[in-house]
Amino acid sequence: MVIGVTVAVALAGIASYVALNWAPLQSSAESASTESDMISLGSTVYAAQCAACHGANLEGQPNWRARKANGRLPAPPHDETGHTWHHDDDTLFNLTKYGLSALVGQPVETDMPAYDGVLTDAQIRASLAYIKSRWPEEIRKRQTEMSRRAAAERG
Ligand code: HEC
Repeated sequence: MVIGVTVAVALAGIASYVALNWAPLQSSAESASTESDMISLGSTVYAAQCAACHGANLEGQPNWRARKANGRLPAPPHDETGHTWHHDDDTLFNLTKYGLSALVGQPVETDMPAYDGVLTDAQIRASLAYIKSRWPEEIRKRQTEMSRRAAAERG
């Protein structure tokens, strides 16, 4: 009898523990694996498509603030020393997909390619997710907040 009650209490305890913890554990595990899948795809895309100019370690080209002899800018770093993180998510996506000229609305002399037709939207988003994953926490927060505000302004 005493043993029966103890077992029942223990089972009830396990059941409520599972009820309280299973759902959040499962969903955070799911989003973590989706996010890390995206970042690992992004690191492959980045290495194949972006690293040649922006640097294997996101460091950009030397002297990236000074125009080259042909008047074009070198590729800037994508780490926190550059200004990639000054742009909201939609701007980064549109710039990478459609190019700088489309973004500015007039022809720009630039070495930055447009990836429309070269990479899928998912590959572009993944490459940007990888870049963002390399930023320090504080920079990520600021860029996330900027993206949220930009999206709210666009409505
Ligand atoms: C052939 C060289 C080259 C390749 C490859 C390249 N970029 Fe660029 N990228 C540039 C240059 C040069 C700029 C500076 C644009 C300008 O102002 O003329 C730039 C700028 C950018 C910017 C704007 C950064 C800022 O600070 O404003 C983003 C975002 C970007 N590139 C993303 C990418 C991504 C993502 C890839 C790969 C999918 C990529 N680039 C591949 C040369 C390249």
